[in-house]
Amino acid sequence: MADKEISLAVIKRLPKYYRNLAELMENRVERISSKELSERMQVTASQIRQDLNNFGGFGQQGYGYNVEYLYHEIGKILGLTRTYYMIIIGSGNLGQALANYTDFEKNGFVLKNMFDQNPELIGKKIRGIEILDAAKLTQYLKVHSVDIAAITIPKENAPEVALELVKGGVKAIWNFAPTDLHLPEGVKVENVHLADNLMRLSYSLKCEE
Ligand code: NAI
Repeated sequence: MADKEISLAVIKRLPKYYRNLAELMENRVERISSKELSERMQVTASQIRQDLNNFGGFGQQGYGYNVEYLYHEIGKILGLTRTYYMIIIGSGNLGQALANYTDFEKNGFVLKNMFDQNPELIGKKIRGIEILDAAKLTQYLKVHSVDIAAITIPKENAPEVALELVKGGVKAIWNFAPTDLHLPEGVKVENVHLADNLMRLSYSLKCEE
């Protein structure tokens, strides 16, 4: 399957399909038409057909989609068939909130350790996961394989820590610090800026005034 040819817009919609299909499976729904799926996902039925055609369809005329099959196929496309080992750098409010959220693990994202530079936090455990000394990060990366690192530290410190992570072999960064990271080609970065969503909401409210 040539993932490269699939547009980013489609890839961005796949987690939403995956989430909806998981809910349908929880409700023991075995099959669903593109019309029903479209109503649930608030996109058009033709959009759904177009999106899924990128991956060879999965639907059958007059039958619709087999929920479990589609769920597993989308999971495969998203690479959710393996375990990803994660660490969190910055064990303050946000870092601890992420660590306390157990649902990531259901999709194979396993948090191995957290790091901080604050001596009061080092050695503590969040949900059984130990906070290690950030000064030992490079050493840690020499012996542990880390797939994804979340950065939840102040923005001033984020670029330096991101580079340290990359030098240590981390290929994917989940960046919550409100700054753009300039990293070597090949390193995958997903930025999460909740304030951006709030600004979009404020814009929508302003337009209604
Ligand atoms: P916090 O002050 O509670 O926690 C930050 C932690 O990072 C502290 O424990 C501190 O000791 C640690 N730290 C600082 N430099 C470090 C380093 N070089 N290595 C390891 N640990 C280090 O702050 P909070 O509220 O958890 O926010 C953390 C970051 O996340 C900030 O950059 C904040 O702007 C950002 N943030 C982003 C949001 C988003 O939507 N993306 C939402 C909320 C916060």
